[in-house]
Amino acid sequence: MANEGSARIAFIGAGNHATQSLYPNLAHIPEFELVAVCDLVEDRALAASRYYGAPEFFTEVDAMLDCVSPQGVCICGPAEMHFEVGLQVLRRGVPIFVEKPPALTLRQAEELARVAADSNAWGMVGFMKRFAPANVVTKEFMAGETFGTLSSISLIHGCGPYDNMRRMLLFNGIHLIDLARYFAGDVASLFAYGFHDGASGYAVSATMQFASGAVGHLNMNSGHTWTDCFEQTYLSGTGAGILNDGSRAVEVMSNAGRFAEGKDMELFGWSNRYYVSGNMAGWASGGHYTRGYHGELQHFARAVLRQAEPTATLEDGVEALRMVEGILESIKSGKAVALSRPAD
Ligand SMILES: NC(=O)c1ccc[n+]([C@@H]2O[C@H](COP(=O)([O-])OP(=O)(O)OC[C@H]3O[C@@H](n4cnc5c(N)ncnc54)[C@H](O)[C@@H]3O)[C@@H](O)[C@H]2O)c1
Repeated sequence: MANEGSARIAFIGAGNHATQSLYPNLAHIPEFELVAVCDLVEDRALAASRYYGAPEFFTEVDAMLDCVSPQGVCICGPAEMHFEVGLQVLRRGVPIFVEKPPALTLRQAEELARVAADSNAWGMVGFMKRFAPANVVTKEFMAGETFGTLSSISLIHGCGPYDNMRRMLLFNGIHLIDLARYFAGDVASLFAYGFHDGASGYAVSATMQFASGAVGHLNMNSGHTWTDCFEQTYLSGTGAGILNDGSRAVEVMSNAGRFAEGKDMELFGWSNRYYVSGNMAGWASGGHYTRGYHGELQHFARAVLRQAEPTATLEDGVEALRMVEGILESIKSGKAVALSRPAD
């Protein structure tokens, strides 16, 4: 029996990311009833089920699906298994929340989306930046009159070392790529340069032309350490600019946004800076909230209950993979790449 108003959701994977960033949100999401945990490593499945209150634990996906018949399934394993396990769940007509990347290739991502549609199911991809409150309010501001029409977007992300450029883009760059699409829509064409220092230092610099006509730039690099990552997004409209700093602060550069008129002087160069306050009690003060993990899981549960439309969808996952392939192709060929879609 489901608790009233909550979706019966099972979880596959009880490794680092799941236990550090995902399960801790569940007690704060009334729409999410954790009914089972599955991990190949029994101790992990048992520990997560006890710690996060799931009544059952399993080491085999089909056994869990047969036994608990969940209404939705979260998948957070090594990226190599997302495609196979995603198909396994979707073919039963059960919606999935799958961590990024949803698959390792564009073709696999397309197959996930196709099988979901054929099975009358759907999927969400763990692009949590869409649920980071700073990004949500930025998007809301962009829809208002003051911002006007988006003309450009720049995204920068520096992370820790990687052992190859494709993995850096698939595992980290993919968040920025989805964020670019969240704010600016589909990319029509791009041109990218790549850098490699011969060891673990990679950088990608890509110029983008969006279907809307806006232009953009993406800088993704592995020049930092894993304890010192960096992220900024800058958007310009026809009436204002917005700087989004690491999902913690949003700076609005617009005359209309002044907090006081400054009657007796001419004001130059003033902007408004809004912070996601850390001065809150409980979960709302921490990274689970500000980085969007709480929001994405609550949204998944609501989508399972048909209270919300799923986002980011498996189709968004396809577009993110299309961008990754396009960037790598442009770096290799030294040419601009038009991103063609099946409907084009
Ligand atoms: N969104 C983010 O900010 C973010 C951050 C870090 C990692 N991630 C993603 O989270 C995922 C997990 O990363 P991690 O570092 O926690 O990995 P991990 O290796 O610590 O955990 C993966 C777990 O999945 C289990 N597993 C593997 N195959 C399985 C199967 N077939 N059935 C059941 N369990 C299975 C493993 O035993 C392991 O416990 C990756 O896809 C990664 O890209 C996302």
